[in-house]
Amino acid sequence: MDTVLSGIRSTGNLHLGNYFGALRNFIRMQDENKCYFFIADIHSLTTHPDPKELHGNVKNVLVDYLAAGIDPEKSVIYIQSDVPEISELYLYLNMHAYMGELAKTSSFKEKARKQPENVNAGLLTYPTLMAADILIHNADKVPVGKDQEQHLEMTRKFARRFNNFYGVEYFKEPVAYNFGEQLIKIPGLDGSGKMGKSEGNAIYLADSPKEIEKKVKRALTDSGPTEPNSVKPDYIENLFTIMRVVSAPDVVQHYENKWNSCEMRYGDMKKQLAQDIINVTSPIRERILEIEKDDAYLRKVTQEGAEKARESAKKTIEAVRQIVGFKKF
Ligand code: TRP
Repeated sequence: MDTVLSGIRSTGNLHLGNYFGALRNFIRMQDENKCYFFIADIHSLTTHPDPKELHGNVKNVLVDYLAAGIDPEKSVIYIQSDVPEISELYLYLNMHAYMGELAKTSSFKEKARKQPENVNAGLLTYPTLMAADILIHNADKVPVGKDQEQHLEMTRKFARRFNNFYGVEYFKEPVAYNFGEQLIKIPGLDGSGKMGKSEGNAIYLADSPKEIEKKVKRALTDSGPTEPNSVKPDYIENLFTIMRVVSAPDVVQHYENKWNSCEMRYGDMKKQLAQDIINVTSPIRERILEIEKDDAYLRKVTQEGAEKARESAKKTIEAVRQIVGFKKF
């Protein structure tokens, strides 16, 4: 059985794109592997979040993941800052991470451009912290999107370098977790290619039916096709793409036919689409509303998660301390 580790950004609620992208696959993944899911709250400090908001953000993400089906009975779920061994490993890895290679990382260059007033050392060493997250459990596999591939590549490099420098074969070189199929990409409702928080076009798992109806109603449309069987513009194709994911095949076919015969009534289609999105998200939303009130449950999940994560992390740190040459008197 492989050890799989997944790091979760502690910013923003989960939306339909996250759900049909990675999250739905995570639920299957945890049946076949030893899975660790953690919320990367230390990473989030690189952008100096308001301390009053940090905990709420972590809680939102935790609640969404639990509600969507990440199961603390099957997987280890924890908060990064609850496992100090990660920070210790980060420190050792930093001794073998070089200024030049860190400064060349795409994510660093992008962040440095976005926040020129706050190009801090944590931002520069973001990849070493991420490597520490992964190597602390000697994970075999990490599910990553395109934007994180370079970080995983650097993790392998840091692992290899550590092994070579100390003449050991301690760290494994983790690879990307492959879901065995193309991940579904959910487009935005505004004609853009991707649903996202920063794009401001997202339908959240926690949205109420009213909010979902409102957002779908606002989706970009036009006056409809005038030629039979014409090619759909992107913003219309996007509505169909979402419909193919949430609606029954005959419903999709019905609207395909309407489009092809130039009898499209967007109002009807949007009503149907909103209803089918609501059908998918409501069970999750109901669990969100229950779990977010249940402080005792959240405390139990995070405490037990931290305990299990630290058990594994401690083994690694003890070994690493020996390898670098620390000894007790
Ligand atoms: N950098 C990842 C992101 O932005 C989050 C993350 C932090 C992560 N540590 C990780 C992902 C370890 C996978 C493994 O999405």
